[in-house]
Amino acid sequence: MKKSMTYVLLLFGGLLLLPAFTAEGGGKVKIPKKINSIIQAKCYGCHNTESKNKRPKDKLNWDELTSMPADQQAEKLADIQKVLEKGSMPPDRFLEKQPDMKLTDKETANMKKWAAKMGKRVSK
Ligand code: HEC
Repeated sequence: MKKSMTYVLLLFGGLLLLPAFTAEGGGKVKIPKKINSIIQAKCYGCHNTESKNKRPKDKLNWDELTSMPADQQAEKLADIQKVLEKGSMPPDRFLEKQPDMKLTDKETANMKKWAAKMGKRVSK
């Protein structure tokens, strides 16, 4: 009796965990070299785990993007597309001091294409 109860509990626990694994988006979002070099040069400095500035880190953390659940990845990718569309990143007030950090048209186009493709992939 006791033993069968354990099995039931194990089975039940397993079933509860299952959605957690299937919702895991890890691996779906891939960052190719070409995109990664843009991110490293122009985005990563403010949007990473070590960033001293909490706000950009909370909004987008590149260190976590590839390992978060798919629904959150979809949200982040939509945000990324939005800022690329508006041309609002990096922020203007930062670009005044460091104009060379501005995304070129080609970089913007490449990132947009990537974010759209990944967005579709994670929302499947
Ligand atoms: C100089 C620091 C800095 C750099 C560089 C930077 N960001 Fe940001 N980013 C911020 C800050 C600050 C915020 C928060 C703005 C706010 O809360 O209004 C933010 C917010 C965002 C958001 C969330 C926007 C929203 O509406 O929620 C996205 C997405 C984003 N950044 C993407 C990028 C991308 C892509 C790049 C590179 C092309 C980039 N950032 C480069 C500082 C930076």
